[in-house]
Amino acid sequence: MKNKRKIISILLSIIIIIFFPVLSISKENKNCFLNYGKEQISLEYFSEICLTPGENESMLNFSWYSKYSHGTSKIKIWEKGAKERIFEGESIDIGNGFISNKVTVTNLKANTTYIYSYECDGLWSQPLEYKTQDFQNYTFVFMADPQIGASSKKMKSNEDGVEKDAYNWNKVIKKSVDKSNNPSFIVCGGDVTNATEDSYDLSKTYKSNLEYSGFLSPSYLRHIPIANAIGNHDKDNENFCNHFNMPNLTNLGETIAGGDYYFTYGNTLYLFVNTNNLNISQHKKFIDEAVEENKDMKWKVAVFHHDIYGGGQHEDDKDIKILRSEMPPILEDSKIDLVLCGHDHIYSRTYPLKNNEKIMDFTVERLENSKEKVDIIKNNEGITYITGSSSTGSKFYKQDKNKSKYIKKIYSEEIPTYTVIEIKQDLINIITYEVNRDKPVDNKIIIQK
Ligand SMILES: [Fe+2]
Repeated sequence: MKNKRKIISILLSIIIIIFFPVLSISKENKNCFLNYGKEQISLEYFSEICLTPGENESMLNFSWYSKYSHGTSKIKIWEKGAKERIFEGESIDIGNGFISNKVTVTNLKANTTYIYSYECDGLWSQPLEYKTQDFQNYTFVFMADPQIGASSKKMKSNEDGVEKDAYNWNKVIKKSVDKSNNPSFIVCGGDVTNATEDSYDLSKTYKSNLEYSGFLSPSYLRHIPIANAIGNHDKDNENFCNHFNMPNLTNLGETIAGGDYYFTYGNTLYLFVNTNNLNISQHKKFIDEAVEENKDMKWKVAVFHHDIYGGGQHEDDKDIKILRSEMPPILEDSKIDLVLCGHDHIYSRTYPLKNNEKIMDFTVERLENSKEKVDIIKNNEGITYITGSSSTGSKFYKQDKNKSKYIKKIYSEEIPTYTVIEIKQDLINIITYEVNRDKPVDNKIIIQK
């Protein structure tokens, strides 16, 4: 078995070397906004560094692939004009011709500009900037199902599909970052890529690696952390757990991609539940323990891929039915305020829900001097469930004929969406935009508590 893996690893390295010149783009263009149709996605992006929120706001997780291991992985980080600090972490041979490097940096201060560099194959990277934001009042961006590579079916080749999706992924991240004005992080509702790596099938591994190159291609991901839920297209992909350095990762609700994990940021607890695993008692244990350890958090946000109150064709799937009957009581017992999902590739937003009932304690108001309407949820008692549409447009589904009675707003145009979420001490502001004209697709939502 070990020999077989070694042979595959060598073959893969050869393929990567052969394909590199064919697919590479010039270094000059590497970190710019891709100009779709003129430049090509390179497998070079495959080893790009990815930032993930750390266990709390003063920590930051890094992960990147290299070809060689030097025993430990290293990050150096410094404030402008100050002495550098070096952090070391794990460096693991993942058996597909690559080494997965993971490092955690600690003691970061709010509103500070840091410069960092990472060691890759014996060389320190060019210095990169990471700015921390305010830890108490901050914004983050939510989007779902970039599913890089899902366009391939409609295109001439996998490469064309990945290029198209990567272009749109760059576009939605750029637009959402501009709109949210320095988000602290990005939350993705899962299905980051389309194909699953298979170490015994080189064509699948190549396809997955190419899709991850597309996913990691936005230069923003070198400066803004991203936390990903595990989608059904991610669940059996080792590239997921090797590319992302998930904080407080548990083996509860585990699949090959990883288990349930959480982090805190300011006054909010973020719980990422791997709903591909239907062992609900493990998810309950994870949520109970994370909530117990973080009793002082004002807000609680759960993120999982399967939209139990979505507006698309997955509504009657067996797994969705199980999750819809078993997850809400657990989430309600833990007083979760907001749930963010994906899976249906259609934007929808529920009324605040509790005990299978809509909580009607909210008003719809018009903002002064504006056409903008706001749904104000007062003294939040229930849970608002938001499902993101496809964030890249790589694939859309049709809206379910019978709109669920729990859904307050649905947007099923075949245009990608992104959601900007602002967290404050006493309220959460939520606005979802379509990506073409950056117009809201739903009323602004204010959750008060
Ligand atoms: Fe999806």
